[in-house]
Amino acid sequence: MNRKWSLLWASLAVGALTAGCSGVNSVFSTASTNAQITSQLIRIVFGIAAVVFVVVEGLLLYTVFRFRSKHKDETGLPTQVEGNQKLEIGWTAVPAVILAIVFGLSIGPLRTVSSQPALASGLAGEKPLVVRVVGRQWFWEFDYTDDHIVTANELHIPVGVPVRLDVQSADVIHSFWVPELGGKMDVIPGHINTIWIKADQAGTYPGQCAEFCGVEHAKMRLEVVAEDAASFKAWILGQQAPVASPSSADAAQGEKAFLDGTCSACHTITGTKARGQVGPNLTHFASRQTFAGGTLPNTPQNLSSWLSNPQAVKPGNLMPNLHLPESEIQQLVAFLESLK
Ligand code: CUA
Repeated sequence: MNRKWSLLWASLAVGALTAGCSGVNSVFSTASTNAQITSQLIRIVFGIAAVVFVVVEGLLLYTVFRFRSKHKDETGLPTQVEGNQKLEIGWTAVPAVILAIVFGLSIGPLRTVSSQPALASGLAGEKPLVVRVVGRQWFWEFDYTDDHIVTANELHIPVGVPVRLDVQSADVIHSFWVPELGGKMDVIPGHINTIWIKADQAGTYPGQCAEFCGVEHAKMRLEVVAEDAASFKAWILGQQAPVASPSSADAAQGEKAFLDGTCSACHTITGTKARGQVGPNLTHFASRQTFAGGTLPNTPQNLSSWLSNPQAVKPGNLMPNLHLPESEIQQLVAFLESLK
């Protein structure tokens, strides 16, 4: 790539100054082979589009200034080119050729990103991880079917291991997108799509639903936490462990309120009688960094405001304002934050 192009790309990547680091929601920052391939293709297609833009806009401006009327009383139409065979063939053939080139450039990357990535060297014997991903209005559910774990908004994966995500929707069309780990995948009701991801380095990679799916579409985020084999194993064991009994009187009251009240109609806490399927599974809720579709840091204050009025925090979401008394909110917070 010559100097001019390098400069163009450098300026385009201003928004992604930390390219290569983790935690950047940008296609210019890559942490996997698939993301690199996708990012490279985007740069090439963007370059072609930029040339087309400059040529078309240049011709337009040239025409506007070159052929503008020079006298106030100048009237009548300019020379007409309708039916000019050479022009008609030209402006049909040129876009067709450009699109054919883009198509040709896309075939290789498409084939690569839709097949299983290679296992990182040194991890021989590791099997690919399979996670069922369900898009819901408005959060992500991650079902580690083989490990009997269901969690929300925070996808843990081992570094260097290919991960197959079987994505599907419980309601409308969403789109799974973690730019640093690869391209987008449509999340469709009644149909399972498959996307492979593999993180090359440990880190936390933010993602976002990329298909408008209703009023809280923008607040349908997720995080992929890629960690070494030992930490991942520890995370799995932690998630599989039965939830601890409440350690304080408040938490015990909160547990009772949760299990006997409305909460358990919509949420599941594995090992208890709470088996609701509407909202996120809350087993080991306190181990998560965020909640409410990945939009709020998981702190007692945030949880307390959420429980006071979820509709004020995330208008339109499916959790109604239950008008809980302040004392019960504090007990529920104590209980939920004890679910490590
Ligand atoms: Cu789900 Cu946008």
